[in-house]
Amino acid sequence: MAMDYREFVQTQIAELKNTVGDATAINALSGGVDSSVVTVLGHRALGKRLRTVFVDNALMREGEPQRVVATFTQMGIPVELIDARQEFLDALAGLTDPEEKRQAITETFYAKVFGRLVRESGAKFLLHGTILTDIDETVAGIKRQHNILSQLGIDPEKEYGYQVLEPLKTLRKDGVRAVAKVLGLGPELSERIPFPGPALAARIVGEVTAERLETVRAATAIVEEELADGKAFQYLAVLLNDRATGIRDNQREFGQIVVVRCIDSLDARTATVTRLEWDKLERVCERIVQIKGVNRCLYDLTPKPPATVEYI
Ligand code: XMP
Repeated sequence: MAMDYREFVQTQIAELKNTVGDATAINALSGGVDSSVVTVLGHRALGKRLRTVFVDNALMREGEPQRVVATFTQMGIPVELIDARQEFLDALAGLTDPEEKRQAITETFYAKVFGRLVRESGAKFLLHGTILTDIDETVAGIKRQHNILSQLGIDPEKEYGYQVLEPLKTLRKDGVRAVAKVLGLGPELSERIPFPGPALAARIVGEVTAERLETVRAATAIVEEELADGKAFQYLAVLLNDRATGIRDNQREFGQIVVVRCIDSLDARTATVTRLEWDKLERVCERIVQIKGVNRCLYDLTPKPPATVEYI
């Protein structure tokens, strides 16, 4: 039976009101469709008793923090911008193992930056945009997602002093987009391509540094601009941890390698590679190798499985 998303919205708002009662809640908005929907649901349910923050973790796309805060301010939902860039970069310094990188981001986010904000605010509840796919893949041991503490057997109340509420945990991505429409979110939010919790760190193989982030951020901007007019489910750029010889201005150059990934999918559980036009691929490549230090651009032809969408 098809799900009634209006009823879903009413039920979730009523449940949030009920659970939070007279207490206050806090949530972190990342600008993706999941956390955007949670933010709007939360504000409808709790009004001023919900504090929404946007944590700049240094791993965001170009101009993203300012753009997200402006969009929600226009909707009458105040969002506080928290600058935690240095804290995340310090936590990631020297790490190259994918799970250790994810772990460092999770810990910095929940135990440090967020823990601090929650303690300061006195909030007893944290609203989180976990969806069913995150839970499935974490339980299956495929990947440690960013947001599934209790499914991993971690009690956030005991460890960090707050209770996590996950109003979207029964939905997949298509369901979340349907709810976004019911809530009246514009297509610039409801139709956004998915973006992972660990943000651009999920697209850097090897160490995450400010400089390497600049490279992948520039490549991401190009890929998103060039591929936005297609129908692909998700498109991204990845910085490899390898180098390759090239020639620039008649000089040999040992340059960086960027991978472009573009996939078709319904819910990211499986994916096939988008058959992009050759001209489009050449144009993307031409622009990416203009980024400082990058002299190769590759297109990833691997479906999921065996590959995942992201690289860490
Ligand atoms: P993978 O790489 O697991 O990605 O095939 C499947 C989908 O999930 C996104 N993704 C994440 N989303 N937190 C999230 O909220 C995460 O840690 C995370 N890792 C991957 C990914 O972009 C893709 O759409």
